[in-house]
Amino acid sequence: MVRFPIDYNDWKEVGRTGEKITAIGLGTWAIRDYGKAFDVYVYGLKNGLNHVDTAEMYDNGLAEEFISRVVREVGRDSIFITTKMMPQHLVSRNKVLRAARNALNRLGVSYVDLFLIHWPNPNLSISIQVKNFEAVFEAGYTRFIGVSNFDRWELEEALNSTSKAEVVVNQVHYSVLNKSIERDLLPYAIREGVTIQAYTPLEKGSVARHPIIRDIARKYDKTPVQIALNYLISRPRVVAIPKTENIDHLKEIISSMNWRLREEDIEVLEKI
Ligand SMILES: NC(=O)c1ccc[n+]([C@@H]2O[C@H](COP(=O)([O-])OP(=O)(O)OC[C@H]3O[C@@H](n4cnc5c(N)ncnc54)[C@H](OP(=O)(O)O)[C@@H]3O)[C@@H](O)[C@H]2O)c1
Repeated sequence: MVRFPIDYNDWKEVGRTGEKITAIGLGTWAIRDYGKAFDVYVYGLKNGLNHVDTAEMYDNGLAEEFISRVVREVGRDSIFITTKMMPQHLVSRNKVLRAARNALNRLGVSYVDLFLIHWPNPNLSISIQVKNFEAVFEAGYTRFIGVSNFDRWELEEALNSTSKAEVVVNQVHYSVLNKSIERDLLPYAIREGVTIQAYTPLEKGSVARHPIIRDIARKYDKTPVQIALNYLISRPRVVAIPKTENIDHLKEIISSMNWRLREEDIEVLEKI
């Protein structure tokens, strides 16, 4: 088992850029009620969170349009925006640029902070798709680039394929109930200085029902959701991006920061 030192920072560096984001951000997949969600996201961005994750694919662009309304409310400088491009655009730089302009139009901004390849295009070499994707950086449409759903070897190839920008993030499935990245991807990312954005960190809320997580939560006077998120952000390089459109859930999520589990309890969670 790989041992990870506890990271006590609630502001984490994005790759090796010097830029910092909060250990928790908000996802935007499968929002049911955008009106209700608006108040929740604005509250989150005014009360301790600074980044959101969205994608061209979510609700056919409606999630990106939702973020445009949130940006207008909180101000462009108060929000670090990550969005993701579908891999079919990666066949040429022109297609990449067109898709990026469409995303920026939906988001109502002239640039995003982080643009990711949503998942690798299986019909293109990693090297070609990453080189084509770099066009978004060269055009000034994003400050940083990254990938999503890349395994350890795909990430290594991506890191070796850029010439203009660095790949600073890999967004992957990671939760206390799904720790497969701890074997090789996470140690590799830590070594290479790549930030991991942990998606589906609550397993859609089911972390709250796990008996061992519940036992530990009682010891700390925290909730199981807070234990599950704290486990993730205690890892070096890891930020988590849960999704909620419920204000009580959001407050619970925000309170996952500013404290850390003890080593012995992390060890128990490592084994489930
Ligand atoms: N790159 C990729 O391929 C990829 C894939 C999947 C997801 N993502 C990103 O990661 C984000 C998060 O992942 P996810 O949406 O799949 O799953 P998740 O964050 O693990 O779970 C979201 C679900 O948990 C519920 N929830 C939130 N806070 C809760 C709390 N405190 N107590 C109980 N339930 C709670 C939410 O309901 P309420 O809204 O009612 O609170 C929602 O139904 C997505 O929104 C998306 O931005 C990326």
